[in-house]
Amino acid sequence: MTKPFIQDLVNDMTLDEKLAQLTQLGPHYWGLDDTVDLTGPFKELNIEPHVMESIGSVLNGIGARNVIGMQAQHLQKSRQKIPLLFMADVIHGYRTILPIPLAMGCSFDLEACEKFAEIAARESAAAGIHVTFSPMTDLVRDPRWGRVMETSGEDPYLNARVAESMVRGYQGTNLKEKGRIAACVKHFAGYGAPEGGREYNTVDMSSGILREYYLPAYQAAVNAGVAMVMAAFNTVDRLPATGNQQLLRGILRGEWGFSGVTIADFNSVNELIPHGAAQDGGEAAENSLAAGLDMEMMSTHYLNHGADLIQQGRLDPAWIDEAVIRVLELKDALGLFENPFKDADPAVDEAAEPCKEHLQAARELGARSVVLLKNDNETLPLKRGMKIGLAGPFAASVRVLGGWAGKERDSAVSLYSGIRQKTAAGDILMAMTGELGSMLEGFFDVEDETEEAYNVLKDCDVILAAVGENQQDTGEGGSKSNLRLSANQEKLIWRLKDTGKRVVTIVFSGRPLELNPILAASDALLQAWFLGTESGNSLADALFGDYNPSGRLSMSFPYTVGQIPVYYNAFQTGRPYDPKYPQVRYVTRYLDCPNDPLFCFGYGLSYSHFTYSGFAVETADRITASIEVENTSDIAGKETVQLYIRDVSASVVRPVKELKGFRQLSLAAHEKQRVSFEITREMLMFYGKDDQLVFEPGEFDIMIGRNSGDHETQRIWIG
Ligand code: IFM
Repeated sequence: MTKPFIQDLVNDMTLDEKLAQLTQLGPHYWGLDDTVDLTGPFKELNIEPHVMESIGSVLNGIGARNVIGMQAQHLQKSRQKIPLLFMADVIHGYRTILPIPLAMGCSFDLEACEKFAEIAARESAAAGIHVTFSPMTDLVRDPRWGRVMETSGEDPYLNARVAESMVRGYQGTNLKEKGRIAACVKHFAGYGAPEGGREYNTVDMSSGILREYYLPAYQAAVNAGVAMVMAAFNTVDRLPATGNQQLLRGILRGEWGFSGVTIADFNSVNELIPHGAAQDGGEAAENSLAAGLDMEMMSTHYLNHGADLIQQGRLDPAWIDEAVIRVLELKDALGLFENPFKDADPAVDEAAEPCKEHLQAARELGARSVVLLKNDNETLPLKRGMKIGLAGPFAASVRVLGGWAGKERDSAVSLYSGIRQKTAAGDILMAMTGELGSMLEGFFDVEDETEEAYNVLKDCDVILAAVGENQQDTGEGGSKSNLRLSANQEKLIWRLKDTGKRVVTIVFSGRPLELNPILAASDALLQAWFLGTESGNSLADALFGDYNPSGRLSMSFPYTVGQIPVYYNAFQTGRPYDPKYPQVRYVTRYLDCPNDPLFCFGYGLSYSHFTYSGFAVETADRITASIEVENTSDIAGKETVQLYIRDVSASVVRPVKELKGFRQLSLAAHEKQRVSFEITREMLMFYGKDDQLVFEPGEFDIMIGRNSGDHETQRIWIG
């Protein structure tokens, strides 16, 4: 039921005022231009000054002082005194920059994901932001795509759980509460699957694949009460999502009952024209409004063509009213009609010192997100008092926040500073620490000083090689065709190996890189991602064992770029490869590399050792699968026990395995625990030929283990 005061406002609005309410513009239109990067074309939109008085929302206009100024000025002019809605890309923290979302996915820690969003919400609310364009829950299988850093990974189940945790963290239970902001899940739908991993490229998939793999995480966000949904740039079944009725009105509103606000991506209504899905701005507005897209972002076709479309009978005016009501309801849910500035607080936003509690949390979240990929001969943890060599472009770099880091872009704790907290200055030797440029700057390798590095570091007890990719070469517009480390970085690692010392390679990246070329040269390998403000401290904690690594990969690491897409939950083929018969040719295989990735989904090591035994599946009243996990080491640690299921034969082909549950166990030294999972009917359902969810009785493989490639299996019949 629409509140009477909202209905009254809508009844009192002119059509132009309604269309303006459905428009979002950048801060430039209010005379501000230095808040954050805008990621699309910025052009003169020829907006009449009186139209500005009724605009609904501001994109990326941030900073408490700016927001208060713009809102106050706006309310003075607005005929109906309708406050502006401030939305921004708070992707991994606002002032305290937190680990990139892909790293958070690797934490497999849902409480941590909720905390992550809570911190981001508190800080951005104080900066005057009402809505964040997060979580990005696009499922990804192609690390060539730069935006894999912004999502939690390749798995529908994990992505769904992370998405709902983040929605809870941002929104809480009441958007009016101090420190809460509305979340906008994106990019609906399938944006994570551009062909060739090339940004903004075509997405094409069957509806079965879309429903089975790509939609669950958006749906989980909707079920968790997300306030907004952003439509994607890409096509879905040949129609751009922005103008896709089946997607927005059919699935989102019809099937899932979403009643919040939908918004375009940057200029995506206008981009229906170059897509070839609309011949002009009028048709672009017509298709988008008809599809159920409420707000237009950074283009003005609703404003410029809405009235004509209604006059020509091409648009139902009720659609405009419904969209306006949804926008006003969101403003009301945030309490903006009572307090248009909400939590904007210059004193907090501009405080000289960042919040200590948030920094501490960022440090912990970072430590939980790193993934230990190799640790031969217990090279790690480092021992205090060791002489540590530190080399590579990320050894002392503070440019390790990752994309979407806003104003604080260059102010992270470096690896050197983190290690320095635990080691005397004289025990750290540095070499070849020149920084890595960005590909867009045309310079993306480091100077070749491997000889010097060899000489400086040959007397250390252990050498850390801090390598990776420039943070600017990840994120939106950050697609790459080559995922190897730059030539001089690979050379450096091998040269360091020649010293005869143990080499720990630490990889800073926003995506899985191709690490096979340096694997043998690395005694230990730590995936560091971009961990945000506290990066160096989080890493030092993990390297010295003050935090025992517990991260698990939420995205497969390819053996070579030619395998991509490589992911664990693929369909079985009619000619599966059997590693027992490597000479057989006519099966699904590569001749020059394995089918499996270098490191699979769910993989990650710890300084503890865990053994699994006593796997049992019981099928009495309820079906349960359980296993005993023992920490056989002297070090307390965390193990992520993973449940996978395979439907052996069905009316449509099913994946070889699907994650259906996981449990994180904190085990003291030599402690053991039995973990039990109930196998529910919901876990066994899938989308059948007619896109309906079905359960089919039959044989199922129940698997429990430490990752998608290492588990125990029992086949059972479920009727
Ligand atoms: O939120 C983003 C989106 O993810 C990509 N295009 C720009 C939007 C607003 O900045």
